[in-house]
Amino acid sequence: MKLKGKRILLTGASGGIGRALSMELANHEASLFLHGRDVKVLDSIRRTLPYPERHQIIDGDLGSVKDRVLLQSVIARNGGIDILINNAGTCRFAWLKDQSEDHIAEQLSLNIQVPVLLSRAMLPYLNNPGIIMNIGSSFGGIGYPGYSIYCASKFALRGFSEALGRELASTGINVLYFAPRATRTPLNTASVNALNSALGNRVDSAEWVAQQAVLALSKEHKRLWLGWPEKIFVKINALFPHVVDNAIAKKLNVIEQHSHDLPDNEHSS
Ligand SMILES: NC(=O)c1ccc[n+]([C@@H]2O[C@H](COP(=O)([O-])OP(=O)(O)OC[C@H]3O[C@@H](n4cnc5c(N)ncnc54)[C@H](OP(=O)(O)O)[C@@H]3O)[C@@H](O)[C@H]2O)c1
Repeated sequence: MKLKGKRILLTGASGGIGRALSMELANHEASLFLHGRDVKVLDSIRRTLPYPERHQIIDGDLGSVKDRVLLQSVIARNGGIDILINNAGTCRFAWLKDQSEDHIAEQLSLNIQVPVLLSRAMLPYLNNPGIIMNIGSSFGGIGYPGYSIYCASKFALRGFSEALGRELASTGINVLYFAPRATRTPLNTASVNALNSALGNRVDSAEWVAQQAVLALSKEHKRLWLGWPEKIFVKINALFPHVVDNAIAKKLNVIEQHSHDLPDNEHSS
């Protein structure tokens, strides 16, 4: 799909990937609805984009029914969209026994329940041809220690994308699953960054990931996994999971050590 003039709702526009994606999409002359919870941050992003007057901001908590209804009514009033990008997400790196019920609920809500509900809410306002792009993760194809909840949510998002894509096959609406590997954004705490360095994992820039997302949108790639060797590990994991079990088992001590670090905002001062 050519992005010029297309109307795009982007959730998580104030985050690391969202901010870079806003710029990339605006450079392709799309008109954006930038969604997040902080009006000031969203407006400061909007002002940096080419043709800022083409873009609108919509604030709200995606976990709130009331805010989602408001979001739907703003999109309806403004004539609908061509593309929905479910990008807002959250992650907490910790062993399951150290995840609180609230942290579990928050990850499952924002990473899977919200994209499902928002996709359903937007279907009547999605032009034909249209696209729903769900931002997944390498961890939607590889179960990884310390990420049991995040993996559960991203595996589910992948299943949802595939099933909905097949359900809508004859409608002109394409559903894409786009899966970055580790990316340098505020999503990753100091302990996650330390783990990535200790394991020698490559970490991409949000700008590069945004360029790849725009390419995936333009070419309508149904499934795109970013980065070597992660994209190969996803395939090996699907065919020969015991090979990946063994490879990860060798790193388990290192992963567990880093999982005991508290997230940045939970250190007592
Ligand atoms: N960074 C990585 O390593 C990585 C790797 C693979 C996949 N991903 C995926 O990429 C996507 C973007 O991640 P990111 O790294 O850019 O994360 P990020 O920098 O932490 O940004 C998260 C975004 O989600 C929004 N958000 C969080 N809770 C919300 C809520 N309740 N209601 C509305 N918006 C909410 C945040 O808005 P506020 O400004 O209001 O908080 C922010 O815009 C996620 O789906 C993530 O799982 C990230």
